[in-house]
Amino acid sequence: MRYITFALAKGRLAEKALEILEQIGISCEEMKDKKTRKLIFVNEQKKLRFFLAKASDVPTYVEYGAADIGVVGADTILEEGRQLYEVLDLGFGQCRMCVCGPESAREYLEHNELIRVATKYPHIARDYFYNKRHQTVEIIKLNGSVELAPIAGLSEVIVDIVETGSTLRENGLQVLEEVCPLSAKMVVNQVSMKMEQTRILKLISDLRKLQELR
Ligand code: PRP
Repeated sequence: MRYITFALAKGRLAEKALEILEQIGISCEEMKDKKTRKLIFVNEQKKLRFFLAKASDVPTYVEYGAADIGVVGADTILEEGRQLYEVLDLGFGQCRMCVCGPESAREYLEHNELIRVATKYPHIARDYFYNKRHQTVEIIKLNGSVELAPIAGLSEVIVDIVETGSTLRENGLQVLEEVCPLSAKMVVNQVSMKMEQTRILKLISDLRKLQELR
């Protein structure tokens, strides 16, 4: 039997994913050591391997087949636009992708003005403004703390994730429009889905049953 390899988005999503996998009998003892700096873990008995990857790299590992299965946020899947099968909404990591800014920026949206949009998600932002809103904007790619951009005068609005809303509140910003809801998803490599169909479908069906029990 060959190994089935999971690529998990490092951090909270990986922790939640492991909790859920454990409930369907898939565990990896050596991953429970919080201090470890290891990035690959193996469950020899069940022939499973787990990679901890940066979230934005998870779809890449899965598309190229270095991992059979990935667990990552819908934001990353949409942004990366990789060739994958999205097989299951895991139901955790729920948040929203939103256009945010000061209240005063609302009129720029209403009048479809040529504004600057700062974001860690340039593809999602471009798709939203050009294809859904039919508004021409200038997209500025940032790598984090995106809420700073409208405060510092870099952009009129941002496209970013809103979870509790506290980062916006504490910086005097608001949700102006919702782009889409987000949550953690399970994705599968297209070839693995055929080659390892039995094991992968069993895994998906076990996870679905678990969701129905909740
Ligand atoms: C994310 C996101 C928002 C914040 C939203 O940032 O980009 O900034 O969390 O969460 P909230 O609505 O609960 O306040 P993250 O913490 O990943 O940091 P980063 O912006 O530096 O990437």
